[in-house]
Amino acid sequence: MSSGRALLDHATALLPRSVAPHSSLRVAAALEDEAGAVHPGVNVESASLGLTICAERNALFGALARGATRFVRLAIVSDRARPILPCGACRQVLLEHAPDLILVLAAPDGGVEELPLRELLPRPFLSWDKPS
Ligand code: THU
Repeated sequence: MSSGRALLDHATALLPRSVAPHSSLRVAAALEDEAGAVHPGVNVESASLGLTICAERNALFGALARGATRFVRLAIVSDRARPILPCGACRQVLLEHAPDLILVLAAPDGGVEELPLRELLPRPFLSWDKPS
């Protein structure tokens, strides 16, 4: 397992791949799986703005497509000073696939903050009763 700083550095190196002509906010994510592989994600925007995909879900979907299943940590960075926290949609989808995920964020003081995803989405919607 790499250090939180190394995972953040990995994500930072991905920022130039962000496609953000509309918001100009570049976001990148590095998702580490149980085997130590790191899966990249960047935000990709569309002229039809609602079709935009966030960096976090991009990383998760790419990892799933590669056959990875067990995820440990997700580093998230942007090209702004204030740390980026995953949006509500990403919290939901990440939690469905990685309930014990630890988020790794770049604190404004230059440090590394590690935060359990679960704390950002208490009482999640995960299943429902099927008709009998
Ligand atoms: N964005 C992300 O990639 N991740 C987040 O957690 C929040 C928002 C992107 C989506 C869009 O391209 C831009 O940031 C502005 O919302």
